[in-house]
Amino acid sequence: MLIKEIGLEELNPRKFIKEKIAEIASEVGDGLAINALSGGVDSSVVTLLGHKALGNRLKTYFINNGLMREGEPEMVVRIFRQLGVPVEVVDAQEQFFKALKGVIDPEKKREAITQTFYKEVFAKLVKLSAARYLLQGTILTDVDETVAGIKRQHNVFAQLGIDPKEAFGYKIIEPLVQLRKNAVRKVARALGLPDSIYKRIPFPGPALSARVIGEVTPERIKIIRKATAITEEELASRGAFQYLAILHQDRVTGIREGKRDFGLQIEVRCWDSIDARLAKPTKLPYKVLERLATRIVKEVPGVVSVTYNITPKPPSTIEAV
Ligand code: XMP
Repeated sequence: MLIKEIGLEELNPRKFIKEKIAEIASEVGDGLAINALSGGVDSSVVTLLGHKALGNRLKTYFINNGLMREGEPEMVVRIFRQLGVPVEVVDAQEQFFKALKGVIDPEKKREAITQTFYKEVFAKLVKLSAARYLLQGTILTDVDETVAGIKRQHNVFAQLGIDPKEAFGYKIIEPLVQLRKNAVRKVARALGLPDSIYKRIPFPGPALSARVIGEVTPERIKIIRKATAITEEELASRGAFQYLAILHQDRVTGIREGKRDFGLQIEVRCWDSIDARLAKPTKLPYKVLERLATRIVKEVPGVVSVTYNITPKPPSTIEAV
């Protein structure tokens, strides 16, 4: 099925919001729906659209998969509480780490997350809440890359020939599937979402596990979480599309306190892009890079090497997994 894109120029955000609210209300009828809010701009927009369409017949969950960034669950719940949207936090850390144990292959990692999210965690919530609909913030770039076989985005089903109703027992509604990131931001702004949400840099569904090459364990997530916090702090004022840190699987020889240390490597990526389809590494001043490296090796235990990616997408991709 070909999805017709609504480009940034032709998008009338107010009309779009009105139409989507009406569509969601008519599809769900007097039934119940649930959605997962990660705090990214896509799921935030879907949460507000759904809330406007369904009021308290939409139940919003924040799934704490153990793979989120520093302070993220608390921040997201606080912002949405201020917007009048109650969010329930579900602690599913153990389930995700169990599913990721021993998984190294990137696509298998994504698959493990998909299965845990939709089949275990969500299926249970659907049963408990008696909801028949799941609202989800899939955007066109997610669909494109999955169809092209570049990356299996965790939230794309129809295009892979999977019927969510059959596979998971509920119907998925995707109000943003005709938009790309820049258009979603325009809608977010029109919905009155705060800067801290609509200006947020993209963050992938598989969360920090997309930034760990090799096995994802609670210990390795702790390392990438710290490196991510430093990278985001240091690069926030650069106006880039997205910036991130990656934990490599290979170790390299370093020196610590005069002794050989076979330590960890962190790669930093910072991207200029319009819509994530093509991207170029930002030409960061050397001083900024130096400061980043100094902080990461000092503040993240075990790291002896920090590198900066200078390859555009393609052939690189924005995330590492
Ligand atoms: P790549 O790495 O494919 O990323 O160049 C393109 C954009 O998509 C984000 N991304 C994801 N978003 N689920 C998502 O919701 C995913 O599985 C996923 N993988 C990548 C990535 O952060 C970038 O903005």
